[in-house]
Amino acid sequence: MDKIIVKGPARLSGEVEISPAKNAYLPILAAILLTDKKVTLTNLPKLRDINTMLKLLEMMGVECNRDGKNVTFDASSLSSHEATYELVKTMRASIFVLGPLLSRLGKAKVSLPGGCAIGTRPIDIHLDNLEKMNVKIEMKNGFVFAETDHLTGALVKLKFPSVGATENLMMAGVFADGQTIIENAAMEPEIDDLANFLNSLGAKVSGIGTSRLVIDGVKELNGGTYQAIGDRIEAATYIIGGLMTKSEMTVKNFNPKHLFNVLENLQGMGAKLEIGDNYVKTYPSSLKGSKVITEPFPGFPTDVQAQMVALLTVVEGNSLVTENIFENRFMHVPELTRLGASIEQLGSSVFIEGGRPLTAAPVMCTDLRASAALVLAALCAYGETKIDRVYHLQRGYEDLPEKLQKLGAHVELVNE
Ligand code: EPZ
Repeated sequence: MDKIIVKGPARLSGEVEISPAKNAYLPILAAILLTDKKVTLTNLPKLRDINTMLKLLEMMGVECNRDGKNVTFDASSLSSHEATYELVKTMRASIFVLGPLLSRLGKAKVSLPGGCAIGTRPIDIHLDNLEKMNVKIEMKNGFVFAETDHLTGALVKLKFPSVGATENLMMAGVFADGQTIIENAAMEPEIDDLANFLNSLGAKVSGIGTSRLVIDGVKELNGGTYQAIGDRIEAATYIIGGLMTKSEMTVKNFNPKHLFNVLENLQGMGAKLEIGDNYVKTYPSSLKGSKVITEPFPGFPTDVQAQMVALLTVVEGNSLVTENIFENRFMHVPELTRLGASIEQLGSSVFIEGGRPLTAAPVMCTDLRASAALVLAALCAYGETKIDRVYHLQRGYEDLPEKLQKLGAHVELVNE
């Protein structure tokens, strides 16, 4: 089983290149199913979740021709409308194929994703609103069976701005008769990226960047070439790493505007940051505790909550972090406590007594962002920290050990 060994405390320097965003490319990969023309996606990050989605597309009959990190897709001869449990259980984002399969084939059989470490992860918002678009939904033996003779545009008001539901409904609207209006749509930058990708193929999505998306149905889509936006969550992880280790380092190849809520919070804590068009540079800063509440975009992103908790354990002063999006996203807390952090969970919040010196200890990854928090804390902990179950990390952080080594950290991936 792969482990990561991190020697701390570390001082970082130099530059780290951010990869294209996992959470932008996953729905974009599902959208490949919408067209029978060739589409090339460039610089696809080497991530477990990306590979899972590629496997799912190939199982459905999509041709994926790899040329390094560029992949050309040909979905002209789809042979299956099924997303199997084996694949869906490893990656919930497989549910994104529901909308495109209904648009292209009029039917879909997708395994219920089931819960994961951070929560039950229901899909009621996806299904309830697809039914308003003339889709018949049936749940049987752990599968969603969806069928339609033709998708009709509808006004759908989301009870919560679900990222995945917004993406599924957008893709269901691409060929639907008439107009689909999504109110209370999620506004994460990855949603904008999916809409921009679809429009680059000839779709008609408007209201991009707002909570009211309008999709005018078209007859078909063309082919094209596209690269997703830089991964703002990966970028936030490295920026926080630079601040935790009091380093002068540059995080580049992403749009800082996609992280303004995180950057504002960090600056409010005393972080010295240089913010450019496609980079952020950190400087050694003396930080104080903060109050963090996760919310849908443009609020503080839940995917940066664990990394923020790691930062708040090492800065002077007390902090309060409230997680409003997922019901069980504090799995990093007991592991950080093993490194010497003082964190008390009170319902959906954690109270952190900062300024505690961290010392190395064996810890275990539980979910993707919790794993990142452990790596960041290990960079500050005195001694050698062994981090187990790193496959969680490899789902969403491309070449993390190599990127940290390039920044001067002593990080090693070992197979024990
Ligand atoms: C996306 O998940 C991201 N994943 C998550 O990133 C991210 O944490 C989340 O959005 C919120 O920003 C991808 O984009 C692949 P949601 P998604 O639907 O679409 C409830 C990471 O670390 N809900 O916005 O599943 C749900 O239970 C991952 O990269 C319903 O109740 O998130 C949750 O409490 C983790 N019914 C909340 O909404 C539904 O039908 C947010 O879920 C759908 C969601």
